[in-house]
Amino acid sequence: MRVLVTGGAGYIGSHTCIELLKDGHVPVVVDNFCNSKPEALRRVRELSGQDFPVHDLDVRDREGLRKIFLQEKPEAVIHFAGLKAVGESVAQPWRYYDNNLVSTLVLVEVMQEAGCRQLVFSSSATVYGMPDQVPLHESAPLRAINPYGRSKLMIEDMLRDLVQAEPSWRIALLRYFNPVGAHESGRIGEDPNGIPNNLMPFISQVAVGRLPRLRIFGGDYDTPDGTGVRDYLHVVDLALGHVRALDWLAQATQGGATAINLGTGQGHSVLEMVAAFEAASARAIPCDIVPRRPGDAASCYADTALAEKLLGWKAQRGIADMCRDAWRWQSQNPQGYV
Ligand code: NAD
Ligand code: UFG
Repeated sequence: MRVLVTGGAGYIGSHTCIELLKDGHVPVVVDNFCNSKPEALRRVRELSGQDFPVHDLDVRDREGLRKIFLQEKPEAVIHFAGLKAVGESVAQPWRYYDNNLVSTLVLVEVMQEAGCRQLVFSSSATVYGMPDQVPLHESAPLRAINPYGRSKLMIEDMLRDLVQAEPSWRIALLRYFNPVGAHESGRIGEDPNGIPNNLMPFISQVAVGRLPRLRIFGGDYDTPDGTGVRDYLHVVDLALGHVRALDWLAQATQGGATAINLGTGQGHSVLEMVAAFEAASARAIPCDIVPRRPGDAASCYADTALAEKLLGWKAQRGIADMCRDAWRWQSQNPQGYV
């Protein structure tokens, strides 16, 4: 199947392109490289031994996107393109709403015109806000607590409204938990701009000597060791979840917009992740426990039963694999793609 992949040069998108190619699909990438580099796609070609079309375009460019649909005739779309940094979204809310909402509005309009009505959307566990209880089931209350999270929740709502009005649309709203790790080749991985906000890229950069120490935000949570607990998910498992979601949409006998958690269902603390990374890299990760980061939950992990039932998908890789692959990527590419 020809699959338009917006944001296909990014962290999750590049790994997904590899799994699509492996499964016999053709990814058609649309990316404006605002948070990624063409080198990632060059390496996807190198790893897969296959070529595929890449369009340097902002998804908000309606005319440009129309031309791509006419030329490429995709049968389905995976919509990764979006801005994703929580802190930045608080400082620049309009940039986030403009990029994330308008890209989705334009994309859906162009898909509608082209008669392409299968869409996999990158949502996030951030739509649950501060959880009342874990594991988080898809029916848990939705209450995003920052502009980034609200942009995801608004898009979910928009897509649910679309399906109400146009029941032939088939949409998977994939709520990712914490994607980490890298392709096992060490050739592609996460390459954040500036100092990372997220735990795993921060730990990796401490291990490789780019950053001096890790600050652990809070040692007094109501968790087994006092540090925050999250559902870390290997990015290759996540990529495979997208391929399964496409298969599921293609076989669906009726339309709908279905939210599905993608996580492992296991929670791991910051200290556990530090220990796993030290073991994988044979490097010490110097760290200090500092006050909690505002807006952080104590514990957040997924109920994964729906993904298993609908998609037949279950994460296969554990935290030792995640840390091993993240370290291989980081140690072989200490400055990322540059
Ligand atoms: P990323 O920044 O690495 O990838 C996003 C890609 O989209 C980049 O290549 C960027 O250049 C491109 N892009 C952004 N706006 C665009 C636009 N208007 N037009 C064309 N291209 C555009 O991020 P990622 O980690 O791969 O995340 C992919 C998606 O998954 C995002 O929507 C993100 O919000 C969501 N998500 C990510 C995480 C995570 O922790 N990484 C968790 C939950 C959800
Ligand atoms: N942490 C530290 N030190 C750091 C960074 C993080 O101790 O330098 C801790 C956090 O306090 C938290 C855990 O590590 O307990 C994970 O933090 P991340 O920032 O890696 O991930 P979050 O769970 O806070 O948030 C991420 C994305 C959100 C997304 C959410 C769910 O940043 O956008 O996962 O998918 F919504």
